[in-house]
Amino acid sequence: MSNLSTYSAYLLSAFLLFRFIRAYLGNRNSPLRKIPTIGYSSPLLSYISAFRFFTHSQRMIHEGYTKYKGHAFKIPMVNGWHVMVSGPKLIEEIKSASDEYMSLRFAADNTLQAYWQLGDYRHEPDFYLINAVRNKVTRDIAPRFEDVQDEIQAAFSDEIHIKGEEWVPVRVNETSIRVISRTSNRLFVGLPLCRDSNYRDLKIEFTVDIMIGSSILQLFPDIMKPLVTMLISKVPRQMRRATRLLRPVIEDRLEKDVEYGKDWPGRPTDLISWLIDATPASKRTVENISLQILIINFGAIHTTSIAFTSAMYCLACHPELHEPLREEIQTVIEKEGWSKSAIDRMHKLDSVLKEASRLGGHTATAMNRLVLKDFTFSDGTTIPAGTFVSAAANATHNDESIYPDAHQYRGFRFADMKSENGGVVGQSMIKTTDKYMLFGHGKHACPGRFFAVNELKTMLAHCLLNYDFKFADGRTEPPPPTWIAMSIIPDQQAEVMFRARRK
Ligand code: HEM
Repeated sequence: MSNLSTYSAYLLSAFLLFRFIRAYLGNRNSPLRKIPTIGYSSPLLSYISAFRFFTHSQRMIHEGYTKYKGHAFKIPMVNGWHVMVSGPKLIEEIKSASDEYMSLRFAADNTLQAYWQLGDYRHEPDFYLINAVRNKVTRDIAPRFEDVQDEIQAAFSDEIHIKGEEWVPVRVNETSIRVISRTSNRLFVGLPLCRDSNYRDLKIEFTVDIMIGSSILQLFPDIMKPLVTMLISKVPRQMRRATRLLRPVIEDRLEKDVEYGKDWPGRPTDLISWLIDATPASKRTVENISLQILIINFGAIHTTSIAFTSAMYCLACHPELHEPLREEIQTVIEKEGWSKSAIDRMHKLDSVLKEASRLGGHTATAMNRLVLKDFTFSDGTTIPAGTFVSAAANATHNDESIYPDAHQYRGFRFADMKSENGGVVGQSMIKTTDKYMLFGHGKHACPGRFFAVNELKTMLAHCLLNYDFKFADGRTEPPPPTWIAMSIIPDQQAEVMFRARRK
């Protein structure tokens, strides 16, 4: 072993010992002791449960949810205690807690180890990209609908090569990542960059690299993180690659803004312009704008492609749903043509997507927060600062008392439901409630959901109108997803058979 690795191994052992002693002493008086634990709760043994959580998370969360429904329970994880709550009362209390007490930003930073992996990002107290997404992306879905639809058509015909009447196998997960990367980026950065394969691969690789980097960094003390980042994290390199690819288009936009002001004719309505507008002048650098584009892509592409893949798997198992869906799409289109508002009126299409994400989703929990100041729920449960808290979303979505036949895919479940005051519209996928938290809930609920749902529905409508699809083995249950800690990952290899639609 080199001197450096021997030194690192000593430092890591000392840190683990220190963490153990601190956990042991801290645990004796901590209010966390009063919260029931799933797994071991003593400082040393809790590490066993923390590692077990990587592969048994579904079982452990299910156990906590069924034993302590409507209350809180805690699970040890490698980066500390996670408290999960369920039931409308406690979920609403997370929703109304101020950022001073419970922070999404700090929870996300910790999960991604952003402070270490994302360089300049550490100096950003404000997140301009949230305003850009909240105000501009949503507003421009309607005027940019045609472009996004055009990209969906082009991307599917590049991805699925149908010959005559043949059925061809399509690996849905990988195809949907590529289609969604292109269509989202048609809105984000426009042509021709949205079709550039180097730019596409960068976003896909960045997601994997940041997750691997953060899983390793979580194991080390802060003092070692700069060194560990330097040795193992590929994220800084990917950020430089993003800056290189985006520089020409961002520089051109910044120069034109200086020369002609912000309203020059032909200024694209895309994420680059929105970010430039949302970012204060002193921070408007190519590096900063590129980083924000990369982060939005990170939050947008895999989440959307998981939702699409889950829906395709479910629909491939339920051919009886295809004709009613086609009928709905065609009726709306005949009346008003393709547009954002036409897509909004497709309630059955919305329902099949929402139901697939209810059963699966991309993560076990929602409303993930890091507690910054001790917080006491109305039932007396106190969560000390430094603890993670979240809502047990997937367990709620699969609760029989909320959704009868919860483990079955009932495609039109939501279209058939009438909400108290909103009719079918009140049940649409974009609506967040304490019973449906795919996009979180409350003031931090995903601001990109209006775009994501519109994109997903347009993609699914395109597939239904242009292809027949099914599983080759005629299965009636979708391939099960894999749970890795909090993440729920749909089957990456499963193939769905496609052929040109026979009308
Ligand atoms: C199906 C696709 C998507 C899913 C399932 C999803 C899910 C989520 C969730 C669970 C949150 C955290 C909410 C909370 O904790 O209360 C979130 C936040 C966020 N999402 Fe999405 N998202 C999706 C697509 C997108 C897209 C397409 C964009 C950008 C165009 C986007 C941008 C954001 C941003 C900026 C935040 C941070 C909000 C804040 O901090 O206040 N998301 N998303």
